[in-house]
Amino acid sequence: MAKLNAQYRALQQNYLFSEVARRAAAFSEAHPERDVIRLSIGDVTRPLAPAVVAAMEQAVCEMGRAETFRGYGPEQGYDFLRQAIRGYYAGHCVNVAADEIFVSDGAKSDLGNITDLFDRDNTVLIPDPVYPVYVDTNTMDGRRIVYLPGSADNGFLPGPPDFPVDLVYLCSPNNPTGAVYDRTQLQAWVDYANGCGAVLLFDAAYEVFLHRPELPHSIFALEGARTCAIEFCSLSKTAGFTGTRCGYTVVPRELERDGMSLNRMWLRRQTTKFNGVPYVVQRGAEAVFTGAARGEIRAAVDYYRANARTIAAGLDRLGIWYTGGVDSPYIWMRCPDGMDSWSFFDRLLEGAAVVGTPGAGFGACGEGFFRLTAFGDRDRTAEAVERMVAFLGK
Ligand code: MLT
Repeated sequence: MAKLNAQYRALQQNYLFSEVARRAAAFSEAHPERDVIRLSIGDVTRPLAPAVVAAMEQAVCEMGRAETFRGYGPEQGYDFLRQAIRGYYAGHCVNVAADEIFVSDGAKSDLGNITDLFDRDNTVLIPDPVYPVYVDTNTMDGRRIVYLPGSADNGFLPGPPDFPVDLVYLCSPNNPTGAVYDRTQLQAWVDYANGCGAVLLFDAAYEVFLHRPELPHSIFALEGARTCAIEFCSLSKTAGFTGTRCGYTVVPRELERDGMSLNRMWLRRQTTKFNGVPYVVQRGAEAVFTGAARGEIRAAVDYYRANARTIAAGLDRLGIWYTGGVDSPYIWMRCPDGMDSWSFFDRLLEGAAVVGTPGAGFGACGEGFFRLTAFGDRDRTAEAVERMVAFLGK
């Protein structure tokens, strides 16, 4: 008889965003007359930039002609896209080589798949609260997880502990809190990892939202990061690719443990288990980096930033504490009246027909907090905020 991975018993029954969607759908079914507004999952609403669409259309035409048709591409991405990504890094004064860049179908997949490179017998340090994929994927593998508590007191930016671990996940700008490590704080993490031999798994999916010019856009802007870090990036939030799927992961050549190169291991893993992102999508992604779409992408980010300001202004009117929304598309608010986050989820859904994400879904330290996303439509976001003010301000 097949033996199953019993570690799955340790997981919550549903992935956080599936559970939120399930509860929202159940509410809509029970109350078809209510107009539900979702400020929950961070899914974009601005369409792909015209320059991206044009590049993809052109690529579709190429695929329809014998002379320009392409079959399997390189599993790690076409050189034209890797060079374009390399140029983007260079624009932030960060030098990465094309063969250190691995194009994929998104940061979420890579963040989960990277665990293939690491023995189960590793201790994993995960800040709490944080994007649930880090905890769930390591739970599936049965690794020991140590949580690093974030709180309003440390600005949800916990620093390195005074004990060694093997793997560290960092997400900055942070999902869900919107907090961002500055250069000094990130340097402390890099020094810590080099000091104890840990590997830093740095999730930079929200890098495009960095607003303050002094903030580093890549972990590789820090001295010593090439010997301890892997960086995960996404076009989902950067350029509206949540439905198109494209991201990339940077594994430096200097990153080695136990005489093994993680760059070579990841190449081996990807060439074996992944067959590459579609050519059409990679041509669209290239347009994101080569400048043609830059203005439109900037406009979309500004659009979401304005939504964040709308949400923040509503919470200010209510006198509710929050953080985030400046260098990040997420607003992290305290649940009013000391409510726990799933109770507040129900209360807001029933009272205002607005869906958010309960903080407890991001870890024990997220209890008592609630995440709202700025990725919605402008008018719908404004409407949701008015409803919240009217309902919670009563
Ligand atoms: C979120 O809402 O946290 C994200 O959209 C989830 C994801 O990117 O997978």
